[in-house]
Amino acid sequence: MRVNELSVCKRIDKVGVSPTMRVAGEAKAMKARGEDVIDLSVGEPDFPTPQNIKDAAKRAIDEEHTKYTINSGTVELRKAIQQSLIRDYDLRYELDEIIVSNGAKQSVYNTIMATVHVDDEVIIPAPYWVSYPQMVTLAHGTPVIVQTSEENNFKLTPQQLVDAITPYTRAMILCNPSNPTGSAYTKEELEEIAEIMSRYHIFVIADEIYDKLTYDDFKFTSFPTLGEDTKRRTILINGVSKAYAMTGWRVGYTAAQKNVVDGINKLQSHSTSHASSISQQAAIEAFIGPQDVVEYMRQEFEKRRNYLHAELNKIEGITCNKPEGAFYLFPNISKLFHRKSSVFKIEHSFDFAMHLLKEAKIAVVPGSAFGAEGYLRVSYASSIENLERAVERFKKAVEMLS
Ligand SMILES: Cc1ncc(COP(=O)(O)O)c(C=O)c1O
Repeated sequence: MRVNELSVCKRIDKVGVSPTMRVAGEAKAMKARGEDVIDLSVGEPDFPTPQNIKDAAKRAIDEEHTKYTINSGTVELRKAIQQSLIRDYDLRYELDEIIVSNGAKQSVYNTIMATVHVDDEVIIPAPYWVSYPQMVTLAHGTPVIVQTSEENNFKLTPQQLVDAITPYTRAMILCNPSNPTGSAYTKEELEEIAEIMSRYHIFVIADEIYDKLTYDDFKFTSFPTLGEDTKRRTILINGVSKAYAMTGWRVGYTAAQKNVVDGINKLQSHSTSHASSISQQAAIEAFIGPQDVVEYMRQEFEKRRNYLHAELNKIEGITCNKPEGAFYLFPNISKLFHRKSSVFKIEHSFDFAMHLLKEAKIAVVPGSAFGAEGYLRVSYASSIENLERAVERFKKAVEMLS
């Protein structure tokens, strides 16, 4: 007879615990002890949710938008998403080609669960957002990690993509602009990728959650705008978390061919049903209400990026590309390897992140968490005052190494 020990199943056993957790856990403990930790590990805007959006949520409660909604999201919200895609990109989806989920994370997860067969290969350029490979593993697919290079601004080259394709390749995940590097692809670069995807009959999961956050005169191109064939093979992911400072509201969406959306709908109907009814009402205001606050936050992020990028590059041993988007820098710290802190030798990005936390009270995420050893992810979703304090401490922490 089978002995049923209470334990987690193999599927979950295969999923790694994020290495970011150790630094984050330690930072949390230090903060709880009252220590002045500057947290540059965060993946969310420090701005409050705009007032008009909060007011819409309050009205939603008063007007009894407090019951179950359709699983795929209310018609009003999907219409708002539809309108915002036409306004921003002249991109047209039918209402039944859009499904709303509990944050873009669930949108990505549901997409992978609904489309990846057992043993399908999914190409994921590294550095990658930590959840992509784990989600593919959970779907019993095979993540195929392709290392991009700093010289190419952490972007996948057409040749790298072609080399990674096998008869088992089903999809590629394209995070543009990227978390963690902030790099964004030009229209021409995307066209090359689209042509390859079309040639090999592969679909693209286009995670464009940072689309509104690009800087200087960089012009963001949404992947499905590249033509009807590309649109047909694209599953577009976006949401309100980053552009509208709404990480806690949990609203994301997937836009794709109806059969894919129907599949996701089935999955979602047996798990979370739908996003919160109140958040959905608030998201309508985000998508089609006044957009000037998005531009205000974008400009603030740009100032911070410029400041932090210039300052980090002044620190001996650190080099950092200037990314086009998101709110992260991804400095190369490998020249600091083999130096010694007060207690240990720096051999990995994790060691340096711990050194920064212990000696400078700055929390960042080691590059190893994103499949890129030798780097750090430094978020500038923090006030200029905090960034100035962080830079001073950062310099001292590097000087301390022998
Ligand atoms: C690349 C990327 N995709 C998706 C998400 C998930 O966003 P949400 O908070 O809407 O679930 C994040 C959040 O950090 C992200 O960085």
